[in-house]
This record gives sequence, C-alpha cells and structure tokens, in this order.
Amino acid sequence: MAWDPKIYLDFADERTRPAAELLARIAAEAPKSVIDLGCGPGNSTALLARRWPRARLEGLDSSEAMLDQARRSGVDAAWHSGDIAAWAPARRYDVIFSNATIQWIADQDTLLPRLMSFLSPGGVLAFQVPCNFNAPSHRLIREVAQEGPWAAKLKTVRNLVLGTAQGYYAILEPHGAALDIWETTYLQVLSGEDAVFRWVSGTGLRPFLDALEGAERDDFVREYKSRLARAYPPRPSGKVLFPFQRLFVVARG
Ligand SMILES: C[S@@+](CC[C@H](N)C(=O)[O-])C[C@H]1O[C@@H](n2cnc3c(N)ncnc32)[C@H](O)[C@@H]1O
Repeated sequence: MAWDPKIYLDFADERTRPAAELLARIAAEAPKSVIDLGCGPGNSTALLARRWPRARLEGLDSSEAMLDQARRSGVDAAWHSGDIAAWAPARRYDVIFSNATIQWIADQDTLLPRLMSFLSPGGVLAFQVPCNFNAPSHRLIREVAQEGPWAAKLKTVRNLVLGTAQGYYAILEPHGAALDIWETTYLQVLSGEDAVFRWVSGTGLRPFLDALEGAERDDFVREYKSRLARAYPPRPSGKVLFPFQRLFVVARG
C-alpha cells in the first residue's frame, strides 16, 4: 500500500497525541534499547528520543516514503526498512513501541507473542491501535465498497484488523505479562473542507483508493464523501466533530 507522509501529517497533532499518552504509561526509567515499529515519518520516534535520549533508538517501517521523511526528521535513530510480521531481530529490546500500526498486520495472535519474545527480561511491549471499526467513517468505506460497481474489485482489499481489549488480554495473558489495557475516545475537532475524508485518506481509505483508478476512483470518492457529509455534518462554526476511539496496551515481559 502506498503511504503519503504529507497527507498523513496533515493531522500530526491528533495522530501523535495517543503515542504520547501510551508513552506516559511505560514505567521504564533508562531503557538501553528501544524500537518504534511502524515509525512512519518519525513523529512517534521523536517522542521516544525525547523521553530516553540515552537509549539506542531504532525505527522500522515498510514504506520507503515514510522512512525518507523519518530520515529527514532530525531524530537521532537508526532507520530500518522491513515488514513487522517478518521482523526477527538478532538482539533483545527493553522497549518495543508501536503507535497506530499493529492494526495493519493480519495474524496478531502470532505476532504479539513473537514481539513479547523479543523483549529483554522486564522489557515492555506497548502499542496503540484504533478500535473504531463501527464508526461511520469506517463503516461507510465498507458500505460504499460493497454497493458500487467496483464491488468485485474491492472485495479482496485488506481491511484493518481491529482487536478488542479482551481479545488482546487473552492473546498476551499466557506470555507472563503484567497487562495494562485501556480505551479512550478523542473528540477530534476538525476544520476545513472534507476534513473527515482528508483524515481517512491518510490511513484506512488508502488501500481502497489504491485499488481503483480514473473515473471509477472519482465516483467512489464522490459517493463516500457525500455519505460522510451526512454522517458528520459541520457545526454552525464550520467545525466537524469526529469522535475517534483508540485502544492502548502496555505489556511487561
Ligand atoms: C498510521 S502510520 C503510524 C506512524 C507513526 N507510528 C505514528 O505514531 O503516527 C502506520 C505506519 O505503519 C507502517 N506499516 C504498516 N504495516 C507495516 C508492516 N507490516 N511492517 C512495517 N511497517 C508497517 C506504515 O508504512 C505506516 O508508516
């Protein structure tokens, strides 16, 4: 899937805030080795660098466009290109961090225990994922995808894998972890034209847009935007309220 750091960073503050709140719950004073899985343009990695300036810091991502942006971010980290699902590090980490990324990986039942096995004794795995699968923004993508003439083409587009608090507890409990799991709903206040569309185009909508082209893509976008406008009407001030639910997990090995 093609990522565009510019579109993604359109909402940099809103996208980075959950990373800061996840980081605040990690009780590691002086970890020696820290990695940011799905580091994107380096916005979440920058927070890690600020909190633990003496740690050996790494960022891993599968998008070259995102990594280019990360390398230009000025954050002092080693940047790696790779797929988290296939990641098999030679060393252990004191903190494995991942903000807004694990939802892109299919087999989380296998992935999460694997990540726990890469922790040094007492190390921490911390991740945040959206859990708004049934919010209109995401439900409408699925509806428009299924109802239009593009349905056959979009049938195989991989959707986000959104877990639940109980589900993550069940996956991680057998791995000897002390678990801290919570959810937060942010009432995001967006402004500007097609604000929710611009938000989703930076993430969950991308695989669907990538699968279409030309007039068909334009028709899909038009239909989706018109349904979004009904689901998220602007307030008299012009602002649009976009509630966004997120799920946080901190697991100590
Ligand atoms: C929503 S962005 C998150 C960026 C950043 N961590 C943040 O806090 O805003 C998700 C990132 O995960 C990366 N990604 C998705 N699936 C991946 C995979 N299987 N392996 C490595 N990176 C992946 C994408 O390239 C993208 O940069």
